[in-house]
Amino acid sequence: MVDQLKKIRNNYIKENIDFVDFWHGEVLFKLSPATIEIIDNELKNTHYNYPSSTGNIRLISALAKKYNVSANNILVSNGIKTQLQLLIDACFKEDDEVLLVTPIWSAYKDIFEIKGIKVHEYKLEEDFSIDLSKIIDLLRNNKIKYILLNNPNNPLGLILPKSIIKELVEIAKKNEVMVISDEVFSELVFNPDKKIKDSYSDENLIIFNSASKSFGLPGFKLSYLVAPKYIIRSMGSYAAKFSMGVPDLIQLAFLNELNDKQKHNKDISLIKEKFLFIKEIINKSKFLELDVSEAGLTLFPRVKKEVSLDWALTLLEKHKVSIIPGSFYGYSDRFRMCYGHLSIKEIQKGLDEINSFLEEVN
Ligand SMILES: Cc1ncc(COP(=O)(O)O)c(C=O)c1O
Repeated sequence: MVDQLKKIRNNYIKENIDFVDFWHGEVLFKLSPATIEIIDNELKNTHYNYPSSTGNIRLISALAKKYNVSANNILVSNGIKTQLQLLIDACFKEDDEVLLVTPIWSAYKDIFEIKGIKVHEYKLEEDFSIDLSKIIDLLRNNKIKYILLNNPNNPLGLILPKSIIKELVEIAKKNEVMVISDEVFSELVFNPDKKIKDSYSDENLIIFNSASKSFGLPGFKLSYLVAPKYIIRSMGSYAAKFSMGVPDLIQLAFLNELNDKQKHNKDISLIKEKFLFIKEIINKSKFLELDVSEAGLTLFPRVKKEVSLDWALTLLEKHKVSIIPGSFYGYSDRFRMCYGHLSIKEIQKGLDEINSFLEEVN
């Protein structure tokens, strides 16, 4: 079903057919003039060294300050997928298994499977909470060495409470397991009471983050992780062997964006405006409910009306709106919508079409 939707959507793009694309979207923020000047100056530089395989020390120092850790706890890498591969190659032992807290960004499962790593899944409870006793059971009965979760979550837009992460890390410690928390949407939290703080204080926690989402710079292919020193050391020597590294030009440009809090807050507030707009429309809808999503670039509304399994197909073909049906993630009464790349006008049009489609359904 998802493949069929993808094919039609790709065809619309190819044929230049007008549709509202909630399927997938990159949020792109413009660079500040100061950042462009930094890039200009770097380009005028006549020396182009190999970058360090662990990251530019100026960026590492800034990130270390942000997370209140030492520079030896940070590694800059070439995007989350590459970073995960590096972690697997450098640190996983044969027979290590992973536990994914699902739903989760779908790329993870594929990567572990390609690497031949056994994947277990713990699906969030019906109310989207975590039952830690079930995780303890899974750890007891398997060779799980890493637990991976998204916070905020893609696709749910859910923020997991800090207290749960803390308890999970305690459990991980007792079971000699690492928790990997992918926090690429951490700055896109729209409920001020649930802000995710950039602090790090645990030997059993690895934080993944990136320039792609919260900073709207996916083309930079720049990610980073905060982790215990022995992990950074192993990954660093592995990265050096394979001559990995992000060009300094990109790292210095990102550093400037990271430091420009005023511009960053403005970029984030534009996304928040769109989020609030969607929330208002959905709250007024007879057929939709936005109950779990409070963060990120993917929202996961509930459809209050019974719809057929292939409703996304009709929506795409007849109403020219693309969404990912929730059934792809195991939730048949929901759908995933990306919105950050669309204008308010496009969002309005797309939601109007969804509402009128649902009005027509018997
Ligand atoms: C949860 C999550 N992590 C990571 C990524 C990708 O990050 P990067 O662009 O740094 O590879 C995505 C992209 O959609 C994502 O949803």
